[in-house]
Amino acid sequence: MKVFGLSREQILRLFESSEITFAVYGLGKMGLPLAAVIADKGGKVIGVDVNRNVVKDINMGLCHVMGEPGLAEMVALNVENGRLTATDNPVKAAEDSDVMIILVPTFLDEMNNPDLSIIRSVSKSISRGLTHDSLVITESTLPPRTTSDVILPILLESGLGIGDFGLSHCPERTMSGRAIHDITGAYVKIVGGIDAKSTETAASIYSRINSKGVIKVSDTTTAEAVKVFEGVYRDVNIALANELAIICQELGIDAVEVFNTANTQPYSHLHMPGCGVGGHCIPVYPYFIIKTVKSPTRLLSLSRQINDSMAEYTVSLVERGLKDAGMEITGSNVLVMGVAYRGDVEETRCSPAIPVIGLLKRKGARVFAYDPLLGNRVEDFNAEFRPLEDISDIDAVIIVSDFKEFRTIDWGKLNLRQKIIVDGRQIVDPEEIQRLGFIFYGIG
Ligand SMILES: NC(=O)c1ccc[n+]([C@@H]2O[C@H](COP(=O)([O-])OP(=O)(O)OC[C@H]3O[C@@H](n4cnc5c(N)ncnc54)[C@H](O)[C@@H]3O)[C@@H](O)[C@H]2O)c1
Repeated sequence: MKVFGLSREQILRLFESSEITFAVYGLGKMGLPLAAVIADKGGKVIGVDVNRNVVKDINMGLCHVMGEPGLAEMVALNVENGRLTATDNPVKAAEDSDVMIILVPTFLDEMNNPDLSIIRSVSKSISRGLTHDSLVITESTLPPRTTSDVILPILLESGLGIGDFGLSHCPERTMSGRAIHDITGAYVKIVGGIDAKSTETAASIYSRINSKGVIKVSDTTTAEAVKVFEGVYRDVNIALANELAIICQELGIDAVEVFNTANTQPYSHLHMPGCGVGGHCIPVYPYFIIKTVKSPTRLLSLSRQINDSMAEYTVSLVERGLKDAGMEITGSNVLVMGVAYRGDVEETRCSPAIPVIGLLKRKGARVFAYDPLLGNRVEDFNAEFRPLEDISDIDAVIIVSDFKEFRTIDWGKLNLRQKIIVDGRQIVDPEEIQRLGFIFYGIG
């Protein structure tokens, strides 16, 4: 049943009684949890993906997205009850749906310009299948103005005009590993439409999905900026923390102690420093601004530069540690702990481990890696796999990601050739580790 312009009560009733068909474009780490949650709340969902294996798996009730508590069960249940199906036919999915949600990836090209090719391609398919009174929602993170200046013109190629269909931006505000929790109500949903009717319709839909409710903002560009600015804030704040942590090193004081104490005052929100910023969000979103606006973006660019330079700083600490032990980095054996961009996930996109490994190799070190979730897949990142039981030829250890498991390691029992540790994530207790005879350098 078409929903554009219906009252909140009508939409909630139709949603609950499975009379609204949703198409979710992109069944990845974010799209599949969203599709499953909508089906679970009563929607009929057609998941659309270009990857035929994904489509096949989902139609068999199988879940290809790992590490999301409750997702596999939710997918199986809703495929079984017929509310969730998948297809690789994007135009037919649009023809058969009332609400189309775009949740495909947005990348950067090699010059760090936003690559919107997938967004454009999906929008074209939706445009070809677009019918009167449908609602199109963009959830992918987008450079501000994309929904109004890129997607809307493509949808208008359908021959329908503004007011014939709805278009809203409702950004995904989720983290891998907690998608269902986040989608269903960890934080409010942001909703901005190209017109009031689009905003109201999308707000009604999300009020059923998200128990925390929605914040309606002025338009799609405002909603896009909310999501991108959240990421920019974190990138800039981490750059500040990184710079201050290096200053603390010079001053001979503990940055974490300073930051935590400073943050007891309500106007200070210093983030934690580290050996780099990874994942496909925080290091990417600043470029959605830097590369698309005419206004100066000095702080954003500098923050990117500072955060990217932390890999080099980390390797410089390894060199210092080796030097303290009378060794050179060339010819040394270095173990990188954690190849994922953060602890307890398998995601490796933009992981700081990648430049750290590259720099170590360029300086002539032999690089090994241990990651609790990736196992021997660390070898895809140009390092040799090494479990912690087999490190008797290792000269220096670098902690790159904050895996919980690393906090419980009995460092005194590790059989290392040289006891040198560089902690990029505040995992070890500096005093304790030095008491165990380690040469220690840390960030923070
Ligand atoms: N993963 C996160 O933690 C996270 C958090 C917040 C926001 N986001 C945003 O969510 C969006 C999606 O990210 P993700 O992590 O789910 O990506 P992903 O790489 O896990 O999945 C993307 C899916 O889209 C499919 N796809 C690619 N091209 C397609 C097309 N033309 N038509 C249909 N399907 C297509 C792929 O096959 C894949 O299954 C991105 O814009 C991202 O910025 C992600």
